[in-house]
Amino acid sequence: MRSIALEGRTYAFHDVGVGVPLLLLHGFPFTSESYWPQLESPPKGFRLIVPDHRGFGQSAAATGTTTMEAMADDALRLLDALSLGPAVVGGVSMGGYVAMALARLDPGRVRGLVLIDTQATADDEAGRARRETVAADVLANGVAGLVQGMLPKLFAAGTEPAIRNRVEAMMLAQQPDVVAKASRGMGQRSDSKDLLARFFGPALIVVGAEDVITPPEKARAMGELISGATVEVVAQAGHLTPVEQPARFNALLEAFAPRFG
Ligand code: MLT
Repeated sequence: MRSIALEGRTYAFHDVGVGVPLLLLHGFPFTSESYWPQLESPPKGFRLIVPDHRGFGQSAAATGTTTMEAMADDALRLLDALSLGPAVVGGVSMGGYVAMALARLDPGRVRGLVLIDTQATADDEAGRARRETVAADVLANGVAGLVQGMLPKLFAAGTEPAIRNRVEAMMLAQQPDVVAKASRGMGQRSDSKDLLARFFGPALIVVGAEDVITPPEKARAMGELISGATVEVVAQAGHLTPVEQPARFNALLEAFAPRFG
């Protein structure tokens, strides 16, 4: 893993594969490791840039709420540091929220979108209250309760125990204050439906058929907003399609790569 310094804090990332730059952003409360099959075997046609968001994994924490814009700004500065111009930008779940925030901050940097197991809508009032409850609970009691609450919703019924165990360990390793700041940040995120309606680049939308957190209807709703988007519903995947069905996910990316030729 490599790193750059952003205002004196370490920002860690993987840089693997050859081709069109694809910034892949992870979800909550995961790390870049949640793309392990792609890091081990990058899809042909893409150079994957996969950071750890501030405070997660190997990246140092920052002060203040971890808004989607703050994480997007970190990623933009990484693209600058790597002297990369426009990139394809994608992410799973919260990573998708960050990808959309990045497209709002700097639309010219986004050559294409890959939105995976995510949604364009903001939280409603009850959702925002739940984010605050999660933040308060992890600060008081640690992340184990959040992890145990999320695990039953993350995977398709047939997902192998080894995958579940690796994801569980990744989640349990995250720091409570970092998780709390990102939970609050998600509660503050903007609705991105207007942004998607204005996006005219290539877009690939992927969702697990068994995703109960951001189900296929959320993916189809995003697909209706983006002109010419491709929506792919992946069988036997839940909310973490890249690790649950890596061969299928990589094949979808490989079929998408020629759009940037
Ligand atoms: C994620 O996987 O990033 C989270 O489920 C997103 C969310 O809680 O909205």
